[in-house]
Amino acid sequence: MSDALLDIRGLTAGYGDVPVLTDIALTVGAGEIVALVGSNGAGKTTLLRAVSRIIKASGSLRFLGEDVLPLTPEALFARGLVQVPEGRQLFGRMTVAENLMMGAYRRRDRAGIDASLAQTFDLFPVLAERRAQTAGSLSGGEQQMCAIGRALMAAPKLLMIDEMSLGLAPIVVDRLLDVLVAIRGQGVPILMVEQDVFAALAVADRGYVLEHGRIVKAATAETLKSDPALQKAYLGSDS
Ligand SMILES: Nc1ncnc2c1ncn2[C@@H]1O[C@H](COP(=O)(O)OP(=O)(O)OP(=O)(O)O)[C@@H](O)[C@H]1O
Ligand SMILES: [Mg+2]
Repeated sequence: MSDALLDIRGLTAGYGDVPVLTDIALTVGAGEIVALVGSNGAGKTTLLRAVSRIIKASGSLRFLGEDVLPLTPEALFARGLVQVPEGRQLFGRMTVAENLMMGAYRRRDRAGIDASLAQTFDLFPVLAERRAQTAGSLSGGEQQMCAIGRALMAAPKLLMIDEMSLGLAPIVVDRLLDVLVAIRGQGVPILMVEQDVFAALAVADRGYVLEHGRIVKAATAETLKSDPALQKAYLGSDS
């Protein structure tokens, strides 16, 4: 038995009869930020969809010690596996506060919900300032904050994020990375998918490189950062 929160072994998944992922092995342990990196079309988003049980998959998928392969996305969400909505999808005409509360729709623990809201406003003070503003009127960075906040309102036991940095200015990305570190510090491990490989490795503990649907490298972030092949592929450096 592994004591990883998320334990993926021999996972294969795809769309219809077209296989995309082959024999994936990946774990996320308590207190970890794990980065999944790889080029366009490598299968990163597909892997998150397989873990969320949105698409068919076979192999071994365990969350908190339980075989979750047969579960529905809803059941996995209820167990605390929460993904930040892809593409920061928010309810644009609803307020920031209403969007955040949507994340807590399954919860009945009033005090816990209040605590999560306070924690979210603590991490993102700008959301507190703009709580009555419509989500559609936020900047891209603020929308990403609201999307992460909404996921936090679900009291996740594991947070998954796909392309957090997409289209955001480097300074905003840095702020968001700091927040991921703070979230890890509060005991919530994170599985993050990033095209901005070195941004992800700056905060991750470990990383996996996905190529054509297979994990081709798994190592500590430290090791991956100094990997010449990775530097060449993702920094365009020839050194
Ligand atoms: N809904 C779908 N139906 C069929 N094939 C799909 C679907 N979504 C993705 N694919 C295919 O699966 C493969 C992996 O796509 P995926 O979106 O997982 O890659 P990715 O690593 O997330 O890429 P990106 O960095 O561009 O987001 C691609 O060949 C893609 O065309
Ligand atoms: Mg993707």
